[in-house]
Amino acid sequence: IKQDNVRNFSIIAHIDHGKSTLADRILERTKALTQREMKEQFLDAMDLERERGITIKLNAVQLRYGAANGEDYLFHLIDTPGHVDFTYEVSRSLAACDGVLLVVDAAQGIEAQTLANLYLALDNDLEIIPVINKIDLPAADPERVTKELEDLLGVTKDEVIHASGKSGIGIDDILEAIVERVPAPEGEPEDPLKALIFDSLYDPYRGVIASISIKEGTVRVGQRIRMMQTEKEFEVTEIGVFNPKPTPKDSLTVGDVGYLTASIKNVSDSRVGDTITSAERPASEPLPGYKKMNPMVFCGIFPVDASNYNDLREALERLELNDSSLQYEAETSQALGFGFRCGFLGLLHMEIIQERIEREFGIDLITTAPSVIYEVELTDGETITVDNPSMMPDTQSVSEVREPFVKATIMVPNDYVGSVMEICQAKRGAFQDMQYLDDNRVNITYEIPLSEIVYDFFDQLKSQTKGYASFDYDLVGYRASNLVKMDILLNNDTIDALSFIVHRDFAYERGKAIANKLKDLIPRQQFEVPVQAAIGNKIVARSTIKAMRKNVLSKCYGGDISRKRKLLEKQKEGKKRMKMVGSVEVPQEAFMAVLEMD
Ligand code: GTP
Repeated sequence: IKQDNVRNFSIIAHIDHGKSTLADRILERTKALTQREMKEQFLDAMDLERERGITIKLNAVQLRYGAANGEDYLFHLIDTPGHVDFTYEVSRSLAACDGVLLVVDAAQGIEAQTLANLYLALDNDLEIIPVINKIDLPAADPERVTKELEDLLGVTKDEVIHASGKSGIGIDDILEAIVERVPAPEGEPEDPLKALIFDSLYDPYRGVIASISIKEGTVRVGQRIRMMQTEKEFEVTEIGVFNPKPTPKDSLTVGDVGYLTASIKNVSDSRVGDTITSAERPASEPLPGYKKMNPMVFCGIFPVDASNYNDLREALERLELNDSSLQYEAETSQALGFGFRCGFLGLLHMEIIQERIEREFGIDLITTAPSVIYEVELTDGETITVDNPSMMPDTQSVSEVREPFVKATIMVPNDYVGSVMEICQAKRGAFQDMQYLDDNRVNITYEIPLSEIVYDFFDQLKSQTKGYASFDYDLVGYRASNLVKMDILLNNDTIDALSFIVHRDFAYERGKAIANKLKDLIPRQQFEVPVQAAIGNKIVARSTIKAMRKNVLSKCYGGDISRKRKLLEKQKEGKKRMKMVGSVEVPQEAFMAVLEMD
């Protein structure tokens, strides 16, 4: 199939607007297997790998489509990760294609992530095909959503496709629109090679498997290639496409999207966003837009059982192989012992990694509350960065603390504007703008410290708007704030893992709330335990955990044995995540309690 008949595209959407369902329908219509069938098939073929706990990612499928004009077309459908935390990866995947289907739910309309994804597509100069999905829903209001899309994109009504991934309406229109509107890839097969790496995955047998999109030139098996950023060189061992099974080829050329292996042992040697060129005949310039995404959220991760420390290190090493945005370094806490300080792209990324360590590696974790990176100017003129509250220098030696701010975009029905503004104000937000999208929906922007977003912003937003608000954020820069470190003392010992940074205006209230919360969360001990919140040497709040009175079991003394066992089991379950901190036994929740501050 000639280059003119190649179409490379992605589907972008707000979460749950039906991206996967639509992709399945497109695969069915082009007689490829659906994603679900593919996964099953792959898993069957890769039992061995599955046993070793490798996740199989499918991110570029090659399809053949016989169009209404009688010609055959080659499609590459490129998958994009869905969540705000992965903006950077979305942007890279989009750089691999020439057009996108912008999918919007017919009942929900445009949401925050619809916009965020749209802007990324526009940044990449992509052709945008608006699709209203789920028009079969009783609550569908395609006319309203069409109007929104007309206003947003400056398109006409006729350019908006009405579809239902569920019933199959509109799928043919979508396929024809891809043929007619998405441009064919440009570039010369004879020019020096430029292949964009838009994903990479580690396989213990073959090394790194890079997902690539060929923008210029041709790549062949056996060819010597060079990574333009890292300047590392390798010899190509296998190239191929997913159609949808991995199918080896002798060469890939302009417009092809597939995979490449070259005995690359280290994921960091084939970074997502880097350009692969030929070592013999290198391109002079890499493809545009390479930039490394830095972690924005940090937390401490410690094994509940200290003897699992090495397992935890191995788990992090394994995860890092497939995830170059994960950072970690050894950390020692007086309270929690040996562990790691880890950096993540955002909260979701953090949760995913924690869950994978617990599930896939079977290690129980104690995690500390997430923190952002602070810039601290010391009185001697030096500037340091602090990502661990316990490392914040004393107030006397600090002349200024700066914290990261984000621009938060919140989309919400009219009725909730008041609640949203209240939350944003309480989170130290500065109002920026408010725009009506239609009679009922409003787009509100605030500048808010990232640290406040990291606390329970999203949960509050969801509960206050009954789930109607959608939310997205972008880093805008560092600003000076009146921040202090608050320490927590248990039985008169400072617990380093509980320290946090707080705005001075909220310090007293937060201290009080946390002292009370800890009193409830920490079980009674054999002796009375004072809980104190302090700024420097000044105690700002105090509560007391009373001494234990009776054995729990005495309650059901003489009672039936199964109840007794249940109680014991419950106690054991609770024990699992307890940690002896100095003289006090502290449960996991206590380390996260600093997050909930209402
Ligand atoms: P994420 O991967 O979570 O971002 O979701 P997604 O955008 O891929 O959406 P997905 O395809 O998983 O669909 C979300 C939900 O909407 C599922 O419960 C689907 O069954 C449902 N759904 C998808 N398309 C349609 C449609 O055309 N009509 C109706 N009624 N429901 C649909």
